[in-house]
Amino acid sequence: MKKTVVLKVDPKAPNPEIIRLAADIIRNGGLVAFPTETVYGLGADALNPKAVLEVFKAKNRPLDNPPIVHVADIADVHRLAKDVPAKAVKLMERFWPGPLTLILKRSEIVPSITVSGLGTIAIRMPKHEVALALIRESGCPIAAPSANMAGRPSPTTAEHVLEDLGGRIDAILDAGPTQVGVESTVLDLTVEPPQILRPGGVPYEDLKEFLGDVALHPVAVANMDYIVDEARSPGMKYKHYAPRAKLIVVEGETIAVINKIKELASMYVDKGLKVGILSTDETSPKYDIGVVKSLGSRSNLLEIARSVFKLLREFDKEGVDIILAEGVPSTGLGLAVMNRLRKASGYNIIRV
Ligand code: TXA
Ligand code: MG
Repeated sequence: MKKTVVLKVDPKAPNPEIIRLAADIIRNGGLVAFPTETVYGLGADALNPKAVLEVFKAKNRPLDNPPIVHVADIADVHRLAKDVPAKAVKLMERFWPGPLTLILKRSEIVPSITVSGLGTIAIRMPKHEVALALIRESGCPIAAPSANMAGRPSPTTAEHVLEDLGGRIDAILDAGPTQVGVESTVLDLTVEPPQILRPGGVPYEDLKEFLGDVALHPVAVANMDYIVDEARSPGMKYKHYAPRAKLIVVEGETIAVINKIKELASMYVDKGLKVGILSTDETSPKYDIGVVKSLGSRSNLLEIARSVFKLLREFDKEGVDIILAEGVPSTGLGLAVMNRLRKASGYNIIRV
């Protein structure tokens, strides 16, 4: 067991002393969890293979699922990647810092473990003063998957990180809850047209408008149990974001969804199970049994994205056996939310 130090830090103006402390840990091959605008990441020196191995171990993450490498300067992309297409540079200029991860051909300086032996690398520049200060002070790119145990909902607060990784990592930079709440959009630029492998903080619609042509990988939509036979985004094949409780997503026209969830809820309650209902502000008053939680208003997908992982963790804390979740509109950030819910359910989706 390690002693995990929690370092409080101002999200807008991080104290340089604290950042120096955290950067020392990174430079010495240690592990520091830090906030980004999306979720907390578990960081290590991306160019130190031993340190990156420790990240996999701490999270219990399969070695064939590579982390994202975080940079604070576009110039670093050209050290980590090669044959960077003009399109990539335009995307960086438009969307960085921000929740967009680019898949590019990797350069020789990147240790094999950092990319799980692939010929490609995932890179992004986070939009968070603490993350940027940590990368700059460490003087190296920082490899960081989400700072949760593999398979669990991603952490949007330092408390979530501590829950999963306390005693397994060196430090956590605590700057309060994250803003976006779902992870970055992963865009593969090694194929034509570019393809979204994971929907996230930058909406599909924005990329479509900017690029003209962009494809959505079937797994990104996650509306079917798609068999991935090709390890382009190895993370695709693992169960993800899952609470301990069994989760069922009910999708369709709102009234029909409410009725179906009511029917299922009373059936499970009769069986003696503790039922959780993941609803929205507009629908939560309709439910009179189970533990009812609201993601926020259906007209505010930003709010919904921000609360989805937090609420999944709360249901677990309350010892719920089964969660019945309403589908939300899959436009804008809603696509990322639906991808996370569908995956968390293990594709246990009911359409009404
Ligand atoms: O917002 C985020 O992206 C957060 C914060 C911490 O930056 N990070 C994050 O990392 O979500 P992680 O490791 O949980 O997810 C990284 C995703 C995985 O689905 C992984 O399979 C994919 O990126 N990925 C990494 N390298 C890849 C590569 N070379 N080709 C395709 N997919 C890759
Ligand atoms: Mg993750």
